Amino acid sequence: MKILVTGGAGYVGSHSVRGLCDAGHDVVVFDNLVAGHRGAVDERASFVEGDLGDAELVRSTLANGGFEGVLHFAAFLDVNESVRDPLKYYVNNIVHTVRLLEALRDAGVKRFVFSSTCATYGEPETCPIREDIPQAPINPYGHTKLAMEFAMRDCAQAWGLGGTALRYFNAAGASADARIGEDHDPEIHLIPIVLQVALGQREKVFIFGTDYPTPDGTCIRDYIHVEDLADAHVRAIESQPPGVFRFYNVGTGQGTSVREIIDGAREVTGHAIPADESPRRAGDPPALYADPSKIKRELGWSPKYTNTQDVIRTAWGWHETHPQGYADR
Ligand code: UFG
Repeated sequence: MKILVTGGAGYVGSHSVRGLCDAGHDVVVFDNLVAGHRGAVDERASFVEGDLGDAELVRSTLANGGFEGVLHFAAFLDVNESVRDPLKYYVNNIVHTVRLLEALRDAGVKRFVFSSTCATYGEPETCPIREDIPQAPINPYGHTKLAMEFAMRDCAQAWGLGGTALRYFNAAGASADARIGEDHDPEIHLIPIVLQVALGQREKVFIFGTDYPTPDGTCIRDYIHVEDLADAHVRAIESQPPGVFRFYNVGTGQGTSVREIIDGAREVTGHAIPADESPRRAGDPPALYADPSKIKRELGWSPKYTNTQDVIRTAWGWHETHPQGYADR
């Protein structure tokens, strides 16, 4: 199948591009390289350097490309930044995505897979989280992702869009062969920050909140390996029926605390990794972990990585060999 991948030079996007190429698909990556890296794009894929805000380029790429499907990763993802600068998120994550959907409609492309997030659930009262609990995001980032889920549902009804929203939990790890991995600037995610401490690039990691109502007082998250996320995308686009809106949690089903991540990284790396306790970060729910039974049942997906230690080990394989990220490639 010929597939366009927006944001295919980013973290989850680049692993998914590789998964699509491995499965024999013909892949074109569309990325402005603002957050993505040219070196992350699989050599088997073609590359268009372009901005999703360039509606004409998006339209002509889709109109003339002969695509059967689109995987849409290009988006901003920093929750704190979304609180400070919501319109940046509304423009990129909603306006540009709506324009992309228009271009799909006009080009007759009916398969669409969208990066949604567990942030659309807000602060759920109980875990594991099933897809049918109410979605009540608590920040602009989550609002923008939920808005696009609504748009996909409406387009499925109105003109037969086939859309799948994959609600990721915490994407983590790197490719098993350490060829591609996580490289954000600035880095905001726990595992890469902890590994930067192990590499001596940061003095210590700050634990954001130790008074949460969890067994060790720190936040619990569901760290899903990026190659398992990629596999979910491949299955979603391959199985996508037209005119149907689907939505799935993509997580392991297991919760891991911040302290457990730091301890795990100490074991994997053999480094001390100094950690300081610091106040809570605004907007962090105490616990978020998935009930992934729906995607297991309907798409036959299941995570290969069920042990957080193994996830950290792949991340370490990447960070150790690429201490400056893609600048080292
Ligand atoms: N944390 C620290 N210290 C750090 C960084 C993070 O203690 O230096 C903690 C956070 O407070 C949180 C946990 O580690 O409890 C994980 O934080 P991340 O920033 O790695 O990930 P988040 O859970 O905040 O964010 C992820 C996705 C978002 C998504 C969000 C939904 O990256 O895109 O889950 O809650 F919106």
